[in-house]
Amino acid sequence: MPTRRHFLIGFVATPIVLPTLGHAGGAPRQLPLTATCDDDDGLTPAQTEGPYFTPESPEKQHFASDSPGGERMTLAGYVLTQSCQPVAKALIELWHANESGIYDNSGYKLRGHQFTDAQGKWWFETIVPGLYSGRTRHFHLKIQRPGGNVLTTQLYFPGEPDNERDRIFNSALVLDVRETSDGKFGRYDFVVG
Ligand SMILES: [Fe+2]
Repeated sequence: MPTRRHFLIGFVATPIVLPTLGHAGGAPRQLPLTATCDDDDGLTPAQTEGPYFTPESPEKQHFASDSPGGERMTLAGYVLTQSCQPVAKALIELWHANESGIYDNSGYKLRGHQFTDAQGKWWFETIVPGLYSGRTRHFHLKIQRPGGNVLTTQLYFPGEPDNERDRIFNSALVLDVRETSDGKFGRYDFVVG
């Protein structure tokens, strides 16, 4: 019986490939990413969806034009099983506040969903969400593998001053954030049951 780390060795050979932000159809750039799951990983924790979820979002990956004044950010990662197997065609839904901390509750700005590719990868091109009263900086997501239950959760930023004061914040849900020439790049791998 191979360990999960054995799965990992073959898995990390495929880097996440993203289009160059702001240049639709341009040459892809590769981000040298390594899978983060190992023998210690458990399921991604669930969190409240909060008051601002809107059902029936459109299928889309490019959010940044919904809020052109925001700081660009790419979110990306994999959906994995607990045995570190990538999950293809998993649903990923994302919604979040604009740079001023305001949600679009009448339309679908900064809201949408997509499906992981054959390698279990997902990504969105969006902006850094702003702060609003009572919460630290965060994204909201729903993840569902084919035929599985819906995981509702949130993702956070490292080093945010309000993380310690936020009653919902969970350090297991902190993005790996890097600065790139196209803005921030945030990585998170979801582990679903
Ligand atoms: Fe929120």
